[in-house]
Amino acid sequence: MKKILLQKAYTAMQKSYSPYSDFKVGAALLCKNGNIYTGCNIENAAFSPTNCAERTAFFKAISEGEREFCAIAVVGGKNAEITDFCMPCGVCRQVMAEFCSGDFEIITANQNEIKTKKLSELLPEGFKI
Ligand code: THU
Repeated sequence: MKKILLQKAYTAMQKSYSPYSDFKVGAALLCKNGNIYTGCNIENAAFSPTNCAERTAFFKAISEGEREFCAIAVVGGKNAEITDFCMPCGVCRQVMAEFCSGDFEIITANQNEIKTKKLSELLPEGFKI
């Protein structure tokens, strides 16, 4: 399943709209019911409206009624070349924490290796109401 999700993230990365950074990111979000939602980063001339690939995938899923999630795969790199692991930014970690428990898995890969982290490792003691 990790390899399938990573492959879908890689395919989604090809749709990245990133004319300002040329850093292309793709994500594939696995729901507990088996559905998968993909996303890419979408940049903006005003910079701050830029949406990361992870949040694109989450917002697509949430807006379709999904609420329970197992894992997200993320890949990215300059000009779509995967040279290093692509870890979610702090804002995306906070969005994950809104909808996922600490055992939600974040999967990423470089050319040689798959790395899996739990949300509890990436956002310890995060803010919640
Ligand atoms: N980006 C993502 O899509 N996900 C991440 O986890 C980190 C950063 C995007 C935002 C921006 O379009 C580009 O990568 C460079 O920061």
